[in-house]
Amino acid sequence: DQIEKAGYEHFMLKEIYEQPSAIKDTYRGRMLADRGIIRMAGVDDNLEKFLNAKRIIVVACGTSWHAGLVAEYIFEDLARIPVEVEYASEFRYRNPVINKDDVVIAISQSGETADTMAAIKLAKENGAFVFGVCNVVGSSISRETHAGAYTHAGPEIGVASTKAFTTQITILSLIALKLGKAKGSISNTDYHMYLNEMELIPSKIEKALESNKHIIEVAKVYKNAKNCLYLGRGYNFPVALEGALKLKEISYIHAEGYPAAEMKHGPIALIDEQMPVVVIATKKGHYEKVVSNIQEIKSRKGKIIAIVTEGDTSVKNMADHVIEVSETFEALTPLLTTIPLQLFSYHIAVMLGKNVDQPRNLAKSVTVE
Ligand code: AGP
Repeated sequence: DQIEKAGYEHFMLKEIYEQPSAIKDTYRGRMLADRGIIRMAGVDDNLEKFLNAKRIIVVACGTSWHAGLVAEYIFEDLARIPVEVEYASEFRYRNPVINKDDVVIAISQSGETADTMAAIKLAKENGAFVFGVCNVVGSSISRETHAGAYTHAGPEIGVASTKAFTTQITILSLIALKLGKAKGSISNTDYHMYLNEMELIPSKIEKALESNKHIIEVAKVYKNAKNCLYLGRGYNFPVALEGALKLKEISYIHAEGYPAAEMKHGPIALIDEQMPVVVIATKKGHYEKVVSNIQEIKSRKGKIIAIVTEGDTSVKNMADHVIEVSETFEALTPLLTTIPLQLFSYHIAVMLGKNVDQPRNLAKSVTVE
């Protein structure tokens, strides 16, 4: 056990720190940035199906569903294909409209999630092409899907998913870029810039991990909180959901993720001096709007923990704590902003003496329906 943890106190921490190398493993051999090539057998062999798709339906659960939500933004943005993201457990039990020209993308770390598997079977029965994004090689979902791509994140032991999430986003971004290039919906220049930027992501994650000590200090302040709100917009709305899920599952603190602009439609009523609010306020992506959300929280005495772009000064003046991440393209910000949120939950759970790797009531793969 100690050897497998490679000196880390928990698998979750090890897996958080593995993200730079896990992401490199995800794109290694697939993305040749200097030659402007993205190759993935599962996509290349079925390119027409992707290009002719009237829409993409993503089916997944939990953290994998959050990766699907990020994919919705990136596919619509770069490849101009409409995307619907469905909880597998809802999709399978209603009577969904599935067409033969739909491409269904099933995302699952374990490749064993029962509801995701049932959604795949339903999609196949209705004639859709089903593509899997799994981490576990040879898993049931990877065998049931027509084609797919493995994330190659390596074994994820901690029940709270970390590197699976960022590697899922990596692979989905590569697919969106590949389709965008093939469809001509992104310019050649942008395509090349994205590939070059993707290569820089592992080192930018390393940089984000350097905030660990500072995050421990912030975690000490909020470890006894009863509730926590997470806000983000656009690409970082799913990151807010993911941050809240991480805190809930390992520290048992009640947390909610919300699109920042929805705050005024309800959650703002919860804000007082007892309420920590984690706001993702990176420079790209409706920055001004998020800044005004921060002002609204401040005027109600909420405590603000802001994830900002390196060098930011405006939010720094308003927030109680800021955690910096490097600048990157808006579409790739989730790969960086997720990191401090993982560390924040991890440290709070450790400080509260919780079983971080095996939280109560949770299993690594949910094979029950
Ligand atoms: C995330 O931290 C979870 N423990 C959980 O939500 C998980 O993402 C979900 O059960 C889906 O699992 P899968 O990716 O293996 O299908």
